[in-house]
Amino acid sequence: MSHASVTAPLPPASAALDRIDHAYSDPAWWYNLRGLGILTFAYRTTVWSQVAFLEQNISANHLEIPVGTGTLLNLVLRWRAFRGRPIGRIVAVDYSETMVAAAQQAFARWRSVEVARGDVANLPYADSEFDSINIANGFHCFPDPDGAVREMLRVLKPGGTVATNVLLVPRGPQPLRAIAQRIDDWGIRKGLLIRPFELDDILSKFRHAGFEIVDADVRGNTVNILARKCA
Ligand SMILES: C[S@@+](CC[C@H](N)C(=O)[O-])C[C@H]1O[C@@H](n2cnc3c(N)ncnc32)[C@H](O)[C@@H]1O
Repeated sequence: MSHASVTAPLPPASAALDRIDHAYSDPAWWYNLRGLGILTFAYRTTVWSQVAFLEQNISANHLEIPVGTGTLLNLVLRWRAFRGRPIGRIVAVDYSETMVAAAQQAFARWRSVEVARGDVANLPYADSEFDSINIANGFHCFPDPDGAVREMLRVLKPGGTVATNVLLVPRGPQPLRAIAQRIDDWGIRKGLLIRPFELDDILSKFRHAGFEIVDADVRGNTVNILARKCA
C-alpha cells in the first residue's frame, strides 16, 4: 500500500506562495527536461554529483523538502538501495500541487515514502521529529528562506543534519558566467527562482539560526552544505 498522502488543509497562502504554486505547475516531463538544462548551464553541476552528495544524508527518519516531481529523490533512494544502505521513513513535501501530484505518482509503490503538501516555513510536523533533512535544488526557491531555516531547526533532533545545495551568484569564467546569469534572470522573472546567494550570506544564515557548518563544498555555481543542529 502506498503511504502517499496530502495532509490537512494549508493555512491561507501568501501571494508569494501562490506564485510558487503557479510557477511550478508545468507537466513533470517538461519540469524534468528543463531542470536538466538549468542544472548544466546555471548550476554548472551534474545529477550524479547531486545524488552522491544527497544520498549520504538519509537517516531512518528523513524529511525531503522540496521534493518536486520526485525524480531526483527516486535516483537518490535507488542509489542508496544499490549500495545496500537502509531506507527508513521518508517524508517528502512540496508546496506546488502539481509537484505533489507528480511525486505521489512517482512513489506510489514505495511503502516508506509519504508525500505531503506543505510550506517549508510553516511545517505540520512536531519539534525534533526528524534526524535528517535534504533540501535539493530548493533553498534559493523559497520565498521565506529565514523561515525555512527556522523550521529546519525546529523539526530536526539535536545533532540532526541538513544537506542542501544552494545556488550561488554566478561565478567563474565568461561566457559561462553570463549564460548562468541570463538563466537566473529568466528563472526569477518566471517565479521559478527567488534569488541566488552569496556564499558568506548563506553560511551565516545557517550559523545564526543555530547550525554548525560541517562542510561547505563549492561546485560550479552551487555550494553543497552539510549543517548540524547544535545539541
Ligand atoms: C527547483 S524545484 C526542486 C525540486 C526537487 N528537489 C528537485 O531537485 O527536482 C524547487 C521546488 O521548490 C518548491 N517550493 C518553493 N517554495 C516552497 C515552499 N515555501 N515550501 C515548499 N516547497 C516550496 C517548488 O514548488 C518546487 O517544486
